[in-house]
Amino acid sequence: MSSSVSEDRNVFQKIISHAKEYGFVFPSSEIYDGLAAVYDYGEYGVELKNNIKQLWWKTMTQLNDNIVGIDAAIFMHPLTWKASGHVDGFSDPMIDNKDSQKRYRVDHLIEARADELTLAGKNGDAERLLERMNKYLAKEEFGKLKDLMDAEKIVCQVSKTANWTDIRQFNLMFSTEVGAVAEDASKIYLRPETAQGIFVNFLNVQKSGRMKIPFGIAQIGKAFRNEIVARQFIFRMREFEQMEMQFFVRPGTEMEWYNKWKQTRLQWHKALGLPSDKLKFHDHEKLAHYANAAVDIEYEFPFGFKEIEGIHSRTDFDLKNHQQLSGKKQQYFDAELNQNYIPYVVETSVGADRAFLAVMCNAYQEETVTQTSKTEDGTEKNETKTRIFLQLHPCIAPIKVAVFPLVKKDGLPEKAKEIIELLKYDFNVVYEERDSVGKRYTRQDLIGTPFCVTVDYESLTDNMVTVRFRDTTEQKRIAIKELHSLVANEVSFKRIFEKI
Ligand code: GAP
Repeated sequence: MSSSVSEDRNVFQKIISHAKEYGFVFPSSEIYDGLAAVYDYGEYGVELKNNIKQLWWKTMTQLNDNIVGIDAAIFMHPLTWKASGHVDGFSDPMIDNKDSQKRYRVDHLIEARADELTLAGKNGDAERLLERMNKYLAKEEFGKLKDLMDAEKIVCQVSKTANWTDIRQFNLMFSTEVGAVAEDASKIYLRPETAQGIFVNFLNVQKSGRMKIPFGIAQIGKAFRNEIVARQFIFRMREFEQMEMQFFVRPGTEMEWYNKWKQTRLQWHKALGLPSDKLKFHDHEKLAHYANAAVDIEYEFPFGFKEIEGIHSRTDFDLKNHQQLSGKKQQYFDAELNQNYIPYVVETSVGADRAFLAVMCNAYQEETVTQTSKTEDGTEKNETKTRIFLQLHPCIAPIKVAVFPLVKKDGLPEKAKEIIELLKYDFNVVYEERDSVGKRYTRQDLIGTPFCVTVDYESLTDNMVTVRFRDTTEQKRIAIKELHSLVANEVSFKRIFEKI
């Protein structure tokens, strides 16, 4: 294993531990040993995730006068999923090992083999393997896929044998039943994407909002998929959140909008603080059942470039099928063309949890700092320490300002609490008086608080405080009356929006 790959894996483990230790993400129902691929957000995690969601929501609905939001139910009429193609087509090719009884996604097994080849320096072999896999997956040639596994001698990690079943498709939707009496109960699904809640409300919103094409409908909400292989922390979960926007356009103009949204969405991730060289487009080799063009925005996680957002040109696939199965016309009258048509749709779909994970991975910083102190005999001594901090964009940081009295007496706590009063209606702020100021800085660094404000004896007379900036650790004396505008400027949505 090359040192950089092992280092990256190491860093990812540190980020997972950090997320748990400092209240960002916990394994679900941990006291019962957890539930695979399900996670809970802690006290700082929920703030960070809400800020990311709010930023997406505002970007979509406030920055665009032709996009409005909705909040549709998770349960939908079962025919929805027939129309969308999920009942028949939303499946992954799976294989079981007969000795261990473990089930795997075939593409994951082959990708893991390609990773091994890359680590062994056989990049060309790895690329060729992935090319052949993608070709067979696209054509659903499962016999050839199995031959590929045999040729690569892929074995189960548990039994260490290659005693595999045939490859089968496995539907990823969770189902449950509605109705109290068993005989009357009918099967319904937990939505595997939020998009369908938008499609079935297309005409409601178009009419109630008097929307004219082109226009968009945005939604944030939970989606559920029975992912067989739980991998990479919150990257692939069974219950997750999507932020999706369907943009309804005139047929024939969809590629123009597709290209526009590709660029706009890439800009959004950059505005959030993700660096350009860690973001890239990846065109789909295998198009989803509903798309005529599709691209992923990928972020370079410590485990490699992986999808955080999908942009799909979905044609009129969904609305046409809903029209057919519901028997209700899904047409729009275009007054300029004097014509009725089913609109085409360009979709942007980003996982809130994946955006969160990308932001956390990008923010996690380890910095070696050298501190000079004097020993008892007066000689100087250098000590090196590692400073860990989350370099989150101030706009999405869970806590914006921490306010400390230097000591817990002599009116300093009261003065610090006056500052809290001054800020708390507009920003998420905390008051901290335990331990040394140095330790209080460290605690705030670990959760990514951009500003720490210390009230000292002089503050009582000059109404000035020391502001310490997280990223540089620089300290500045600032008038209390200037604090609000300093913070407002740094956390301003406007500054982010200007970059989108
Ligand atoms: N409506 C289109 C759609 O659902 P997708 O590419 O399957 O497309 C969109 O999903 C986004 O949802 C992905 O880019 C990813 O960020 C997120 N996502 C999908 N499956 C996920 C999972 N199991 N766990 C976490 N996020 C997931």
